[in-house]
Amino acid sequence: MPKDKNGKLVPGRLSSARAVPSGITRPEYVGKPGPAPHVGGDKYDQDTIQRIRIASRIAAQALDLVLESAKQGMTTDDLDRIGHEFLISQNAYPSTLGYRGFPKSLCSSMNEIICHGIPDDTVLEDGDLINIDISAFIGGVHGDTNGTVLIGEGSEELANLVSRTKEAMHRGISAAMPGRQVNIIGRAIETYAKRYNYGVVKEFTGHGVGPSFHTGLIIPHYDEPEYDNLIEVGMVFTVEPMITLGTADWDMWQDGWTVTTKDKQHTAQFEHTILITDDGPEILTEA
Ligand code: MF3
Ligand code: CO
Ligand code: CO
Repeated sequence: MPKDKNGKLVPGRLSSARAVPSGITRPEYVGKPGPAPHVGGDKYDQDTIQRIRIASRIAAQALDLVLESAKQGMTTDDLDRIGHEFLISQNAYPSTLGYRGFPKSLCSSMNEIICHGIPDDTVLEDGDLINIDISAFIGGVHGDTNGTVLIGEGSEELANLVSRTKEAMHRGISAAMPGRQVNIIGRAIETYAKRYNYGVVKEFTGHGVGPSFHTGLIIPHYDEPEYDNLIEVGMVFTVEPMITLGTADWDMWQDGWTVTTKDKQHTAQFEHTILITDDGPEILTEA
């Protein structure tokens, strides 16, 4: 359906807006052009961390549900509905819905789409790659996670891209020891990705997350010493590398959201929200 004659994705049709029950608290940015500036840094007290644990667990459960549901013949809008309904069943607000005008409750990024794909009437076919990025807002805080699966059999090249992108994320997470600089994370990711000659996307990064969806703290996925913030106990941020089969350069669709590889080769991504403890990183987006 929305693929051109070369099999490349083109924008589809959006369903009408999904409702959120009035009893579910919205993030402050909903209905505004963008979020208020983040205040309060990236290290949180025990109470806030406990609330981020809850939001992160709900996001992780939503991600598992949506990825397990993804089957050929479904549309990305079907997946949006599944994620949306799960989140509201947990009294959580889908963080992406109304974030800087994003119209849906999750991002669905297929094949050559790097990130921020908008759910529409695109039909999943055998051999497609699909990334789902879903976030939950509850208790005044966000949890943010994403993952990629292959629909049906797929090629070995794509299966390797998926498993190695996940491994790259885990290597980045493992490097996030307190006392080091955040640039250790991207160094670990890029070193691993380069073994396979993959591209590592630079302009979309990990970020601080908690009371704000994006706090302003930047976690690059490539080796960039200039990002020298110290990793400290009590910090919460995401690690979410986007890895490509070819170039890491990208284009953006007219919708102002959908980011695709410039060469239209496939790309994958995984994301966790992590807490820095005395012993090292702890993954919070675990179901
Ligand atoms: N969840 C994405 C991230 O990992 C952000 C999506 S913003 C949206 O940072 F507006 F595209 F939904
Ligand atoms: Co994120
Ligand atoms: Co995300």
